[in-house]
Amino acid sequence: MKLFLDTADIPSITKWINKGIIDGITTNPTLLSKEDSDPTVGVQKIAQLLGERDVSVEVTETDPDAIYQQAKKIASLATNIVVKIPCCVDYYHVIQKLVQEGIALNITLVFSVFQGFAMCKLGVKYISPFIGRLDDIDEDGMYLVHELRIIIDQYEYQTQLLAASLRSVSHLHDVLIAGADVATVTIAVLEKAVKHPLTDAGMKKFLDDWHKLGVKKFP
Ligand code: E4P
Repeated sequence: MKLFLDTADIPSITKWINKGIIDGITTNPTLLSKEDSDPTVGVQKIAQLLGERDVSVEVTETDPDAIYQQAKKIASLATNIVVKIPCCVDYYHVIQKLVQEGIALNITLVFSVFQGFAMCKLGVKYISPFIGRLDDIDEDGMYLVHELRIIIDQYEYQTQLLAASLRSVSHLHDVLIAGADVATVTIAVLEKAVKHPLTDAGMKKFLDDWHKLGVKKFP
C-alpha cells in the first residue's frame, strides 16, 4: 500500500519524505488555506520536493467549464500533479474529457459505492472515499472501503482506491487490512502510528543494561 501525507505543510513534508516511507501528498483547499505562502507557489514547491511521486491539488472553481480550464492549469504546474475534482454529477462530462486528454485525476468526496463505480467507469487514477466523514454521520466508512475494493477487483478497473479522511491509527490499520491501494494520513495520525511505548521501553532497557557493562569500545 502506498502512503500519502494529507498536508500542505512544507517543513512536515520535508521531514517525512526524508524518512523514505512517503509515496505522495494530498492537499485540499482547507489544507492550503492554513499555509502562509501563495497556494500556487506552495504546491509547486511540494511537487518539486516529491520528485516523481504524486501530489493531489484540488480545483476551486464550481462551474464545469471553469473547472475544466482550472484543472488543465493545475495539471501544468508540474508533471507529478494529480488534479482533485469533487465527485459531483455536474462534473462527470468534465472528468471524462480530462481523462481522455490524459490528465491524472483524484476524485474526492466519494461517499458511496455507486459514486466510486461511476468514477472507475470514467477511468480516473484515484477515487478517495472519506472514511472519517462517513463515521461522523454514523455511517460505516470502513465498510465502503471494503465494498469499493470488491468492485474494483471484481470488474478489473484500473482505478486506485485511496482511503482518505483517516482520523486515527485504527483507521490506518483497518485500511491496510481492507486492501486500499493508498492511504492518506495527517501528520498527527502518522506520528502516532510510528510509535509504540514498548519500543521506547525496550530501547531504554537495552541501553541501561549495556551501560552497566562498562564496555568502552564496541565492536
Ligand atoms: C483527502 O484527500 C482529504 O484531504 C482528507 O483526507 C480529508 O480529511 P478530513 O475529512 O479529516 O478533512
